[in-house]
Amino acid sequence: MALAIGVDIGGTKVAAGVVDEQGVIVATSRRDTPSQDPAKIEEIIGDVVRELQAAHEVEAVGIGAAGFVDAARSTVVFAPNLAWRDEPLRAAVEARCGLPVVVENDANAAAWAEARFGAGRGEGYLVILTLGTGLGGGLVVDGQLYRGRLGIAGEFGHLTVEPGGRRCGCGGRGCWERYASGRALVREAQELASISPAIAGRLLELAGGQPEAITGLAVTQAAQDGDEAALEAFRVVGTWLGHGMASLAAVLDPGVFVLGGGVSAAGELVREPATRTLHERITARAYREVPGVRLAELGPEAGIVGAADLARRR
Ligand code: BGC
Ligand code: NA
Ligand code: ZN
Repeated sequence: MALAIGVDIGGTKVAAGVVDEQGVIVATSRRDTPSQDPAKIEEIIGDVVRELQAAHEVEAVGIGAAGFVDAARSTVVFAPNLAWRDEPLRAAVEARCGLPVVVENDANAAAWAEARFGAGRGEGYLVILTLGTGLGGGLVVDGQLYRGRLGIAGEFGHLTVEPGGRRCGCGGRGCWERYASGRALVREAQELASISPAIAGRLLELAGGQPEAITGLAVTQAAQDGDEAALEAFRVVGTWLGHGMASLAAVLDPGVFVLGGGVSAAGELVREPATRTLHERITARAYREVPGVRLAELGPEAGIVGAADLARRR
């Protein structure tokens, strides 16, 4: 059976896996990405790939990278939350592991995985939104990944939702990902905990009393334990998500929205407010079917599975 390696590179970690033809991960490896140095991250990618290669017969490597990837699927031209600028990632990793490499945007890779093996099976028109450090977007149209002319379509996280709003890693202001992402969730929770500690008891307990020490996992944990501030943070982020989804529905008319990335592990905490807002905001709601909103079935692993499958089909 043909195996391929998928590597997902986010703002905080490199996660890799050996994936079979059915989209099943048979081995994994992961490292933190403490460095903003592109050469250092390439070294880490080389390490995880060689580690997996040593134990498995693999034919290709797919990399899902958190940035704008060119149409040749070789170069990361720009990454708002990483140091990559015109980075020839394919060549750098091929030189390190001796296997054919395909580079794809991380959210595109996740969209592909969910369409083929996950929550979007059988859906011709799918939009994925991945909530992590940034907000990733991916679009499957008629069963095909839509990449646009330059390869960089589907950058939904940089839609302006608040002109003049929060600064974004892309250089702009008011981008959707500054309001709807894992980072936005943490920011919201930290702000609430420092301004209204009385409603953030559990949240602060989990963070040793320090609002600035609140992590994404702590927000989810506290919300599950009924912490009011944590629940409010999810409502705020979920509502921003739903507003944007209503706009995307107006442009794209998808059959389903899939929510992925680390935050999707929080399940209904994020899906519920997002779905409610989508239903409230979608245009012509009495006269149309509203797209479904599903949690990624492959969860945070979708990027690994999709990148590997795309590499196999290179
Ligand atoms: C980047 C995207 C990426 C997303 C999720 C955004 O800031 O522009 O390319 O897919 O973050 O990692
Ligand atoms: Na994308
Ligand atoms: Zn932006």
